[in-house]
This record gives sequence, C-alpha cells and structure tokens, in this order.
Amino acid sequence: MSDAPRWDALWLDVQLATMAGDAPDGYGTIRDGAIAVRDGRIAWLGPRTALPAGAEAAEVHEGRGRWLTPGLIDCHTHVVYAGNRSDEFEARLEGASYEEIARRGGGILSTVRATRAAGKEALHAASLPRVLNLLAEGVTTLEIKSGYGLEPDTEARMLRVARGFGRRLPLRVRTTFLGAHALPPEYAGRADDYVALLCDHMLPALAQEGLVDAVDAFCERIGFTPAQTARLFDAAARLGLPVKLHAEQLSDQGGAALVARHRGLSADHLEWLSPAGIAAMVEAGTVAVLLPGAFHFLRETRLPPIEALRDAGVPLAVASDCNPGTSPMPSLLAALSLACTLFRLRPREALAGATRHAAAALGLAHEIGTLEVGKAADFALWDIERPAELCATLGFNPCSEVVVGGRARSPRLAD
Ligand code: NIG
Ligand code: FE
Repeated sequence: MSDAPRWDALWLDVQLATMAGDAPDGYGTIRDGAIAVRDGRIAWLGPRTALPAGAEAAEVHEGRGRWLTPGLIDCHTHVVYAGNRSDEFEARLEGASYEEIARRGGGILSTVRATRAAGKEALHAASLPRVLNLLAEGVTTLEIKSGYGLEPDTEARMLRVARGFGRRLPLRVRTTFLGAHALPPEYAGRADDYVALLCDHMLPALAQEGLVDAVDAFCERIGFTPAQTARLFDAAARLGLPVKLHAEQLSDQGGAALVARHRGLSADHLEWLSPAGIAAMVEAGTVAVLLPGAFHFLRETRLPPIEALRDAGVPLAVASDCNPGTSPMPSLLAALSLACTLFRLRPREALAGATRHAAAALGLAHEIGTLEVGKAADFALWDIERPAELCATLGFNPCSEVVVGGRARSPRLAD
C-alpha cells in the first residue's frame, strides 16, 4: 500500500493567489502551482514541483497558466427584488436627492410596492439574471438581504427565493433579514410599533423557519433610530443571530459604534464614519464593508475614511450592494474597480475585500475566503496576466472557470 494521496480533482499549471492573510505580496502568489480537492475541500496546494510523489487524482484539469483565486464573495446585496427605479436615476440627475425621493414615498418604498405585488416565481425570474451575472464573475458565495417586503409574507417570500438560488445553483447563499429597511406606509407615524412587530413576531418566525443567517437594519434619518436598531439587535441576540448594519451612509448616527457594541460582523457604507466609530470597530473586530457602487450612483463626494480605517487595522471588505436604487450594479468586479478608482484601495486590498475580508463579514472566515488546506474548494480561474487586472478594467469579465465545493463549472451556466 502506498501513502501517495488520491484526490478527487487536481488543477495543474495555475498561478495561485491564495489571499492568505500573512502573504507579504498581498496576494499570496504561488507561481506554477497546483491545487487538489477531496470531498469538496482543498486537500493540497503548492508549487507543482512540490506535488507529493505518486499523487493521483480522478480528474486532472489543465490550468494553462491561468490565475486561480478563491471564489469571490459578495457579502452585501439586495439582489432579490421586483421592478426597477431608472425613473429615480433620472430624477436625481434633474437635482432630486435620494433622501427627498424617499421622503415622498419613492426609493425603497417604490421597490416594496413592486416586490409585494410579485409572486414567488415572478420574484425568482426577476432576480435570476442578476444572480447569474454575479456567478459568471466567479462569485461562489452571495449574501442576499430581505427588506423590500416589510410585512411577514413578502419578507418570507424574498428569503425563500434567496435560499432557492442556493439550492438550484452552484452557489452558497447567506440570507440576512432586513425588515428594518424602511417604515412601511401602514405604520406611518408608528415606527416603534413596527420595530416591536419585527422583534416580537417577524424575526422570530422567520428565524424559526431557518430563513435567517444574520440581521441588518438601515440606521439613518430616513430609516431607523439607533435606539430602535438596538432593540432589533437585542432581539437578534436572543435568537443567537449575528448582526450587521447599514451605518453612516448619509449621516453620522453612531451606527458603527452601535453595531460594534453588539459584536456585529460588519458595518457597511461608512461615508460619515467618525473616529469614535473606527475605535469601536477595532475593539470589536467589526469588518468595514465598502460599497463604492452606492457612492458612485448617488454621486457622493464624501469618502469613507479609508486611510484611518486602514491605519487602525480594520478589515476592509468590498461588495456590490446590488439594489434597484443606490447601486443597480450586479457586478462585484465593477465594485472592485470602483473601490480602487473612487476609494483608492490598492488592487490587493480590493481583492482581499471580496475574498478573505468578505468571508469575515459573513462570519465564514474559517470556511471560505482564502486558498488553504481544509477550507471549502471554492475558486475561480481567470484569463489574466496579473491579479491587479481584476480591478484595473471595468465592464469586462475574464473569468473562465468556477469551482464550487470542488465541482467545476463554466462561469456561464448555460454553456
Ligand atoms: O444599501 N441604504 C439603504 N439600502 C440600500 C438602498 C436600497 C434602495 O434604495 O432600494 C443601500 O444603499
Ligand atoms: Fe445595502
């Protein structure tokens, strides 16, 4: 009997970007590498010349010199919705602000009307092209929020459609309950009653059905107050669910410090983040999720405090925030490019933001986000010369193969 390993699959002649945390070049580059998979997990990786003698694999794939990175992780999206809001895009270009549009019943509430009116099949069909676009870009884990129902049936329908993508497609889906996204019209003037409904009925029922991985809220002048958000976070804690927050997007509400106090996974947006918020995030290990798509579409001018976050050692994730209002952009590659041009992230930081740090923002750092033995075998192969190319172009997708749980597929599922 030989001790030589027997693997399910082996990729040869690949340039690995492991994205491991301590890599001096920021990418964890292994030139002329190989990576092996067994039982859906990474079983071995290293330079091809170091392959164990006599190793065999049931399937051998030729990398042909392509780059191989961890599967991309889009850790903040609202991809499940019906309708579209290009009328608001036009209105904003005529001078209306996002907040004004929201206050006159448009914005999130406009998508709530369309989503409430859509049955499960219609909602699935409307959302599928967006999900497929992300898959084609090497996304192997996708976070999807509710928040366009704001009443029990539609919130549940959104989360079921989201979970359905995880069952029907080679994709890991994490669902986030965002019932505190906006105040539904039937609760006008009664925000505290709506928050009580979320805490006492909607969230417990959806969690009971196994539809919720995390809880999020929009803590903002046009959203919910810090006190209301804290009540929701306490309800999440009672159910053992982690929290995250749309924080400091349009104003400084102290949201980042609030979510950090609740040991939150992430604070997202952060254009108005204060030094106190940064200090609280450092203390709690809360990830900063940067959403340059929303910054771009709202034509914001106030940047998140990137340098201060970097200097403080806060992990920076990058996500698409794909939604019909502030970021109608079902593209994580576009978010990577915009994170560099608008926020001046270095390409190695942006790529870490869509792999290692995005995994942390979902509480999945032990499972995905880097190429390491024992982690899930989720990766993407790219026709590029250097990893920075993923950020240095916009509107072009060089992904040529995707592997999820050790299974290879074409990026375009129909192929
Ligand atoms: O992440 N700001 C709140 N939520 C979304 C926008 C949702 C919408 O406008 O439909 C965001 O920017
Ligand atoms: Fe968002």
